[in-house]
Amino acid sequence: MPDAVGPDPQYDVFADEFLDHARNGLFNAYYDRPACLSLLGDVDGATVLDAACGPGLYAEELVARGAQVIGFDQSPRMVELAAQRVPAGQFRAHDLADPLDWLADQSVDLVLFALALEYIDDRGRALRELRRVLRPDGALVLSRQHPAGDWLRHGGNYFHARVIEETWSRGWRVRYWLAPLEQTCEELHEAGFLIERLLEPRPVAAAADIDPEKYERLTQEPTGFLAIKAIPDPRRSVPPNW
Ligand SMILES: C[S@@+](CC[C@H](N)C(=O)[O-])C[C@H]1O[C@@H](n2cnc3c(N)ncnc32)[C@H](O)[C@@H]1O
Repeated sequence: MPDAVGPDPQYDVFADEFLDHARNGLFNAYYDRPACLSLLGDVDGATVLDAACGPGLYAEELVARGAQVIGFDQSPRMVELAAQRVPAGQFRAHDLADPLDWLADQSVDLVLFALALEYIDDRGRALRELRRVLRPDGALVLSRQHPAGDWLRHGGNYFHARVIEETWSRGWRVRYWLAPLEQTCEELHEAGFLIERLLEPRPVAAAADIDPEKYERLTQEPTGFLAIKAIPDPRRSVPPNW
């Protein structure tokens, strides 16, 4: 474990453990992935950019549904795991702080950006870059930790965006942003997106057999994730980042 979590790819240290956790765990398999996949809709024949793809669990499902998947992640180990898991996908190590200069303007049909927004320092720039590569009739689907849950856990000023560091139950040390819902909506607006749908997902019914306590809690409390589908706003052009 590094002494401090900073700009290094923090998930690299526990990428294999994340795969083990997210493959069949309630939060990812029965809660986040069903929500984002439902917002993505029919992906058959679509080119999907899986931004911050992690170990390829989404990519695996998207390819099974007929999509062509291009994925990237800051963590080289995540990229290795994704490439092993989904031979039909194209994966590379890439930090969303940098330009996606290996992707042409308007070259993908859909962008998936699941559970990673909170790790990005300059979210406006990252979202503008995702918009640049998205076709005008495409859509961005993202999920993030629910800000109400973050606030209930951490307290303080809900409206004050700030970085925190914490250690999760498996000993994973993470650094991420707490930000109010309004901020995510404004960041999307400023990057030239229109929010089409916002879900506060509940776990799918099968989750009750996996972990009844978490299932009960997440069907009643906004303490997990939320998911947003946003489309490029045809009325607004956004200046390029670089
Ligand atoms: C919670 S995991 C989600 C992985 C995957 N999207 C999923 O839902 O299964 C967060 C991922 O974001 C990646 N990540 C964090 N900061 C990033 C950055 N600046 N650029 C690209 N990926 C990043 C991490 O390496 C990690 O794989």
